[in-house]
Amino acid sequence: MSEEKSFKYVIIGGGVAAGYAAKEFVNQGVNPGELAIISKESVPPYERPALSKGYINLQNKATLPNFYACGGSGGERQFPQWYTDKGIELILDTEIVKADLASKTLVSSNNGQIFKYQTLIVATGSTVVRLSDFGVEGADAKNIFYLREIQDADKLVYAMEVKEKGKAVVVGGGYIGLELSAALSVNNLDVTMVYPEPWCMPRLFTGEIASFYETYYANKGIKLVKGTVAAGFNTNSNGEVTEVKLKDGRTLEADIVIVGVGGKPLTSLFKDQVEEEKGGIKTDGFFKTSVPDVYAIGDVATFPMILYDEMRRVEHVDHARKSAEQAVKAIKAAEEGKSIPEYDYLPYFYSRAFDLSWQFYGDNVGESVLFGENDPKSPKPKFGTYWVKEGKVVGAFLEGGTPYENKGIAKVAREQPSVESVDLLSKEGLSFTNTL
Ligand code: FDA
Ligand code: NAD
Repeated sequence: MSEEKSFKYVIIGGGVAAGYAAKEFVNQGVNPGELAIISKESVPPYERPALSKGYINLQNKATLPNFYACGGSGGERQFPQWYTDKGIELILDTEIVKADLASKTLVSSNNGQIFKYQTLIVATGSTVVRLSDFGVEGADAKNIFYLREIQDADKLVYAMEVKEKGKAVVVGGGYIGLELSAALSVNNLDVTMVYPEPWCMPRLFTGEIASFYETYYANKGIKLVKGTVAAGFNTNSNGEVTEVKLKDGRTLEADIVIVGVGGKPLTSLFKDQVEEEKGGIKTDGFFKTSVPDVYAIGDVATFPMILYDEMRRVEHVDHARKSAEQAVKAIKAAEEGKSIPEYDYLPYFYSRAFDLSWQFYGDNVGESVLFGENDPKSPKPKFGTYWVKEGKVVGAFLEGGTPYENKGIAKVAREQPSVESVDLLSKEGLSFTNTL
């Protein structure tokens, strides 16, 4: 058994939140040897969003030093040497398989190596929901891919090269489904998307928003199969997938299949040791959990969203970055007997695919109000939607916005201005943001 190691601060997980927490520790001041990041991935923290965009663009591939955290938000790219220079121990290829919060002890898969901490930050993120979780048969066939970590992306890229110009079936109509379908299509695969709902991205898009993207995708040659799910797979004698069997009885030919049917937070290490809520680890507005000296950040945290007076969990990169910063500030302030303001988060989601790029801020509840130029054939589409609840604009979506316009919709979602008439709001469109 390896020697026990002890640190003042340990972060479990080496993803986005861990990278930004390290940055904030350095900003606040951390002594050499005080901080360790333990990650089961074999590379330092990187900007995970690149995996479904630049990293799988075979013609113009983004490669790794280029998207190390914290480059994605304009910060310094933290190379392995950066961690060494700052005295931060980056412990890679190491999965924590047991956590005992009472004795502040972590056990790793590497010969049962033990790590002790004074303060723990849980940043384990999410894992993918698998088709086998729904009992779909044959879902372990070769060339069926999920996408969460860089190793998944490497396997997918290899298959895309081997199956060049082949048939790809994308299961799921959410973020992964839409971004991967575009990437596969750009890389000359013949793509079919399958999802159960009447339109794509139903947890955010209205039918009107979705209609734009669905038509745009169809115009790019992507086939959309809605209202059904993958129920099984046929394979050849090598065990490679050849067909997706749909629940409605149809079959789709497939050389590769990409599945994006949701994520789930990785909290099982802490089960029955810490309070949970809404599937995540419950925290306060400083990302402190119910256990002293244990913090949770990023995808795993269910935190108070002051703006909506509700506990929420958010699976997006902006929150991963900001929650990391907040937790480290709170830890450092507490050590100095100081206090900092509570986390006051405005939800911010975005996506990019083909030449399209949208941003969303706020809450998508209430009546939706469409505005702008939403013809999918338009050379420069620019349209959006406001959500109006109890006479106030609470959410805003914009496709094709400039940085200035995106700031405008963010301001609207934060300030929640009153509106007298939704018809007027629809006519005013983006110019409404200038009235604030
Ligand atoms: P994250 O998943 O980044 O990191 C968790 C880390 O913990 C991983 O390194 C994992 O290996 C490690 N780990 C887990 N359990 C462990 C254990 N027991 N021991 C050791 N290590 C362990 N969001 C967005 O807003 N815009 C976007 O465009 C995208 N795009 C995007 C693409 C793809 C392909 C994915 C998968 C996700 C996105 N996201 C996104 C979501 C965003 O990337 C996500 O919300 C953040 O990465 C969450 O950051 P965390 O640090 O919480 O988890
Ligand atoms: P998602 O929740 O966005 O979409 C899941 C989709 O799966 C649903 O919309 C539905 O269409 C589909 N689905 C559900 N059950 C199904 C079934 N049985 N068969 C077929 N389809 C089914 O999840 P995702 O797209 O898998 O993304 C995973 C994670 O990665 C999420 O945390 C997401 O936020 C993150 N991500 C974010 C971005 C971004 O923010 N731009 C990009 C990629 C990934």
